[in-house]
Amino acid sequence: MFGRGSSITREQVLEALKDVQDPELHRSIVELDMVKDIVIGDGRVKVDALLTISGCPLRETIVESIKAKVAALPGVSAVDVNLGVMSQEQRQALIGKLRGGESAFKGPGSFLGPDSPTRVIAVASGKGGVGKSTVTVNLAAALARMGHKVGVLDADVYGFSIPKMLGVHGRPTLIDQMIIPLERDGIRVISMGFLLPDEDQAVIWRGPLLHKTLTTFIGEVHWGADLEYLLIDLPPGTGDVSLTIAQTLPQSYMLLVTTPQDAASQVARRAAKMAEKVNMEVVGVIENMSFFQPTAADAPVYIFGRGGGAKLARELAVPLLGEIPLDQTIREGGDAGRPIVLTHPDAPASVAFRAVAEQLRNTVPVPARA
Ligand SMILES: Nc1ncnc2c1ncn2[C@@H]1O[C@H](COP(=O)(O)OP(=O)(O)OP(=O)(O)O)[C@@H](O)[C@H]1O
Ligand SMILES: [Mg+2]
Repeated sequence: MFGRGSSITREQVLEALKDVQDPELHRSIVELDMVKDIVIGDGRVKVDALLTISGCPLRETIVESIKAKVAALPGVSAVDVNLGVMSQEQRQALIGKLRGGESAFKGPGSFLGPDSPTRVIAVASGKGGVGKSTVTVNLAAALARMGHKVGVLDADVYGFSIPKMLGVHGRPTLIDQMIIPLERDGIRVISMGFLLPDEDQAVIWRGPLLHKTLTTFIGEVHWGADLEYLLIDLPPGTGDVSLTIAQTLPQSYMLLVTTPQDAASQVARRAAKMAEKVNMEVVGVIENMSFFQPTAADAPVYIFGRGGGAKLARELAVPLLGEIPLDQTIREGGDAGRPIVLTHPDAPASVAFRAVAEQLRNTVPVPARA
């Protein structure tokens, strides 16, 4: 049917398949050794591919992208895709490859490699309830909207609020011991809330187990080699957790959140001291709940006082990255799992969050991709 010159080769098919990514691992299926066999006959191409696990929730996506890429080659009349499942050995080899290619910062086996573009930013405050989680999700959403690859690690293992605030629920895929984050709005997310039998269940264990859970999150979660920003939502009272993070991800930055009150900035100062002790660089201060302004025509009301963020930033000699107003929509968005930055991009609070995200990426740039 086709002349010799137009007959398709195995190499051409393989080349086309390099553009097919595993949707969870964010790497080419060719690179991941997931293409087992290619059979070509008379314009018909049969691709045998191996899934990592049999229950792979995204198998249809993989099949469709294989078909689309191969069918686009000249001289291809039909494409069949046959899916198999990797053996335990093949899976281990794959995980080893992912670890090798994205080997640890210095810590015990993190998937975030020294050459990976990932910048880790831990969002901290001395005091609870100042808006760390709110800031984390809105900055993540802002960075994702700017086209960055973003992850959120909910390090508040007792009082996690990220699943609710981002509206992400479910169980992460486990590939042997590798955990694949859930994803929504282009944000990859991992939280203790995904691992408990019931999200409302209280987490009762302490101390060593806390350390273990966090090192598991840092060591076993496959964020993807292309991840640019990993935002970590810290629990209040940052002691143990910052220490664990600093030990396992030594190149991380700290972003301090405070309200304008003097007392709140005093506690934030303690968090900054902790950052210094564990060698984390404070990248800036965000003042949250800075003022309330019912409409643009009204004068701002400084409900929680004024100037705490600026004062703290001055003292620490770091930039004040933004002053986020009080806005009922922020709270509602948090409760509904839809960050204000996504639902009301023109609200003054969203504009402020985006400005912070822009400054962040200028201060902590990701290296240009090859
Ligand atoms: N600028 C704001 N305007 C209105 N509501 C806000 C604002 N910032 C945060 N909130 C609301 O305040 C509450 C506390 O915020 P959040 O949970 O983000 O604080 P946190 O510092 O993470 O708390 P915790 O210390 O308990 O982890 C939430 O209900 C949130 O929606
Ligand atoms: Mg929180």
